[in-house]
Amino acid sequence: MRVLITGGTGLLGKALFEGAPKGWQVLTTSHRILPPAEWRDCCHLLDLQDEAAVLRLIETLRPEVVIHTASIGGVDEAERDPVSVRAINVIGTATVGRACARVGAGFVFISSNAVFDGRHPPYDEQAPTCAVNRYGALKIEAEAWVRASTLPWIIIRPILMYGWPLPGGRGNVVTRWLALLKTGRPIEVAQELYSMPLLVDNCAEAVWAAIQQRRTGLYHVAGADRVSLVDFARAVARAFGYEERRVVPVPSTRFATLALRPVDTSFVTMKMEQELGVRPIGIAEGLATMQRVQVVVGP
Ligand SMILES: NC(=O)c1ccc[n+]([C@@H]2O[C@H](COP(=O)([O-])OP(=O)(O)OC[C@H]3O[C@@H](n4cnc5c(N)ncnc54)[C@H](OP(=O)(O)O)[C@@H]3O)[C@@H](O)[C@H]2O)c1
Repeated sequence: MRVLITGGTGLLGKALFEGAPKGWQVLTTSHRILPPAEWRDCCHLLDLQDEAAVLRLIETLRPEVVIHTASIGGVDEAERDPVSVRAINVIGTATVGRACARVGAGFVFISSNAVFDGRHPPYDEQAPTCAVNRYGALKIEAEAWVRASTLPWIIIRPILMYGWPLPGGRGNVVTRWLALLKTGRPIEVAQELYSMPLLVDNCAEAVWAAIQQRRTGLYHVAGADRVSLVDFARAVARAFGYEERRVVPVPSTRFATLALRPVDTSFVTMKMEQELGVRPIGIAEGLATMQRVQVVVGP
C-alpha cells in the first residue's frame, strides 16, 4: 500500500508518519519546515497554492490513498485573512482531491471540531454543523467539497490535539503551557472552555484504522476525558512536575483573540470506538506518554 500524507511536518503528519502500518510505503510533503534527515528520501516539498505542482506530484507518486492534513491551523489567522487561508484550506483541499480523482486514490480529509458552535455538546457525526468563526466555516466548506466529490472519502474530525511537534513546528496547548511553566510565569487559562484533549498518536491510530479497514464516511475522534481547559492545564503541570497553582483561571474575555472560540465541542466517540476499534486515550495516559518521549527526544 502506498500512502501520501500532505503536511507530514505538522503535528498530525509527524504522528501519522511515525505510526504508519509496517510494510506500507509512506510518502509525505513539507512546506516550510525541514523534515528530519531520515525522512528526506520520502518527503517532497509542496505548496498547496501551486495547483500544477500538486497535480504533478500526485500523478508522479500515484498513491493509493492521500491523507490530507496540510492546512493553516491558526484560528485567528483565518479571521484576519480569510481569503489567503481559504486558498490553502479550501481550494488547496479541492486541488488535492482532484489530483486523487485523476489517479484513482482514496481521499482522507482532516477536518475539525471547529465545524460546531459548541452550544449543544456532545456532538455525534449526525449533528448539524454551525461554526462560530471563519476557520470553522472554511472547514465546513472544504468538507462540502469532499462530500460532493465522487472520490472514496473519509473525513476525520479531530478535537484539540496535543503532542510533540517537529522542531520549528506549530505549538499546541500543551507545548505552549510547558514553555510558560519553564519560565516560571503563571499560565492564564480561559475558564469557560471545555474539550476532550486528544493525544495526536491516538488520532493517527484512528486514521490508520479507518484506512486499513477500508472505511468511508465521517468519524469524530477525541480523547477519553471531557475536561475544562483549566483542569487540563493543571494536569499538564502535575504531569511535568510543576505546581498546579501556577494555573490561573481567567474569563476568556481577557484574551485579545480575533476569532470566537466555541465553548464546548465535546464529541460522541462511539463510531471511533465501535467501528474503528480505537480506544480513546485519557489525559493522564496521554501526558504520561508525552513525558516519557521527552526523555528521549527533548521538547
Ligand atoms: N491541532 C489541532 O488541535 C487540530 C484540531 C482539529 C483539527 N485539526 C486539523 O488537523 C490537521 C492537522 O493539524 P496539525 O495541528 O497537525 O497542523 P500543523 O501542525 O499546523 O501542520 C500543518 C501542516 O500543513 C503544512 N502546510 C501549511 N501551509 C501549507 C501550504 N501552503 N502548502 C503545503 N503545506 C502546507 C505545514 O507544512 P510546514 O510545517 O512544512 O510549513 C504542516 O506540515 C489540520 O487540517 C487541522 O485543521 C487540528
